[in-house]
Amino acid sequence: MNINEIRSKYLAYFKARGHAVIPSSSLVPQNDPTTLFTGSGMQPLVPYLLGEPHPEGTRLTNSQKSFRAEDIDEVGDNRHTTFFEMLGNWSLGDYFKKEQLSWFFGFLVDEMGIDPKKLYVSVFIGDEKNGVPRDTESAEIWKQLFAGKGIDAGIVEIGSEADGSRLGMRSAHSTGSGQGRIFYYDASKNWWSRAGTPENMPAGEPGGPDSEVFFDFGTPHDPKYGAECHPNCDCGRFLEIGNSVFMQYLKQSSGSFGLLPKQNVDFGGGVERIAMAANNDADIFHVDVFADTIALLEHFSGKQYDDSRYQRSFRIVADHIRAATFMLADGVRPANTDRGYVLRRLLRRAAQHAQKIGIEHDQKEESMLSRCAAIIIEKYKQAYSELASEDAYKMITEEIWKEEKQFGRTLVHGMREFEKLAARGHITGAEAMELFTTHGFPFEMTVELAHERGIDIDEEGFAIEMKKHQELSRAGSEQKFKGGLADVSEKTTRLHTAHHLLLKALQMVLGPHVKQRGSNITQERLRIDFNWDAKMTPEQLAQVENIVNQRISEQLPVVRSTLPKAEAETLGAEQEFGVKYPEQVSVYSIGPEGATEVKPRYDEAFSIEFCGGPHVANTSELGTFKILKEEAVATGIRRIKAIFLI
Ligand code: SER
Repeated sequence: MNINEIRSKYLAYFKARGHAVIPSSSLVPQNDPTTLFTGSGMQPLVPYLLGEPHPEGTRLTNSQKSFRAEDIDEVGDNRHTTFFEMLGNWSLGDYFKKEQLSWFFGFLVDEMGIDPKKLYVSVFIGDEKNGVPRDTESAEIWKQLFAGKGIDAGIVEIGSEADGSRLGMRSAHSTGSGQGRIFYYDASKNWWSRAGTPENMPAGEPGGPDSEVFFDFGTPHDPKYGAECHPNCDCGRFLEIGNSVFMQYLKQSSGSFGLLPKQNVDFGGGVERIAMAANNDADIFHVDVFADTIALLEHFSGKQYDDSRYQRSFRIVADHIRAATFMLADGVRPANTDRGYVLRRLLRRAAQHAQKIGIEHDQKEESMLSRCAAIIIEKYKQAYSELASEDAYKMITEEIWKEEKQFGRTLVHGMREFEKLAARGHITGAEAMELFTTHGFPFEMTVELAHERGIDIDEEGFAIEMKKHQELSRAGSEQKFKGGLADVSEKTTRLHTAHHLLLKALQMVLGPHVKQRGSNITQERLRIDFNWDAKMTPEQLAQVENIVNQRISEQLPVVRSTLPKAEAETLGAEQEFGVKYPEQVSVYSIGPEGATEVKPRYDEAFSIEFCGGPHVANTSELGTFKILKEEAVATGIRRIKAIFLI
């Protein structure tokens, strides 16, 4: 079964069960300063899980483009990828455990034709300290679902990962009531929030116990991963294919847990993983979207994917090019910071590994990596229209080739540095690190060249340097997360409302054709990119600032409404550049005085935008607005950064 079939079946299955099919959000998160990329289907839906009404109702489903940078170094085995599509369905205070677990089980077994005897599940053991009970309800539901397929599912007490490798499948056989299939784990395995376990969650973050489904490939256990095998063991026998999160708790500022206004379900399952289970094939790179890229690489390199000397490289190229294609389509460009750096790293690693399997990085006629991207575009363009246009094709293939060429030059430069070190007969860990960080010269190449020439290289020393480097960047990203969530959500919400006022003010001063071309809001400042091709004068900037501050002092109500898309378009509501909207949309209007949800009075409103929120209720909640900076970011695009002085 291929990816396109599975995606369509899943969406149709949940549509038939009353779910609205909503579009995937961008890989670049909107108004979420906590992560560089969208990494799960629930991320763009956080405001709704926290209680905002969703314009499409209380049952939603989609396939969300997701990217997890933390998995880059894992790519190369048979199951890790950086980019993946997450199939999701959500209940916003609608159905709960019984429907969710039986629907997903029904989808796997009845729609996908997966043998239920190969399925194992996990449930939450409970957390007394935080007042979260043991999830006996889910265990009972699973027991009945398996019984419905003639399977007597035993329940096994596991606990932590370490307990798993101690008790594992052996205890599953000795429970007395059937073979163990339903495993209780603690919060390290069966609790989900964006920040991880209950302890790691900042105040204001939603989370809850979850129940995962695993597919058993039946491969023998590898004792390297622990004495006993169990569903959460990493040996490769079991693969997690879906996670139902019962999103019902909210971490309070006191540190304890309260209930969310509604009990939600947040389900996510990687479509590629479901394909692996449906095809009973433990190699994710056999899934059709990768298989075609790999066939092309085999053809041009003359090497075989099954050759263990090259397999890892084939996988890295196939994964990285797919991720890069989607990132480029969502507006990311290779750069040395943030998202652009991740993209650059993907493309350079892909180029390096393509070279390893014997494909030159800078072909005269056409870039091989661009041709791989063309395959990806072809596979996905029907489901993701951002890949479908001629312009997108041209931009993606050209950007990839450009980066490849630039990397080629870096390698030439890095080679010169390498030669200097090699002339001395040995390379220290710190020197190899310097080649990598300063000259972009990959460590794997340094090692390979050193070995070829019989030069001494301190690999251990490099590993230590690398660890230091990673710890530094990890500390950076933890910092980023810590500051990010609810304690500061109030700050980002205020800046978000100011962002609407600012866009309107820019249109009043510069002209109505000025449109937003990008935005980013953190707790400290807002940023807006817009089309304008000259430096703004100090007078224009002062005028814009005055208009915004004037509206703030007028204490205008901020009103949210849900409308059919066509109606919102007729109102002239601002749309976000490049965003696909569902049939029912949420719109925020600011002003006039006295406007309410019942009587929004759009024709007198100061600003109307397509927007999911959240926003403040009244502009009086905002501080004094100040523009910090106005600068060019690209031809015809200017950027403004602004803050509140108080
Ligand atoms: N949020 C959960 C996950 O990412 C389920 O969607 O696994």
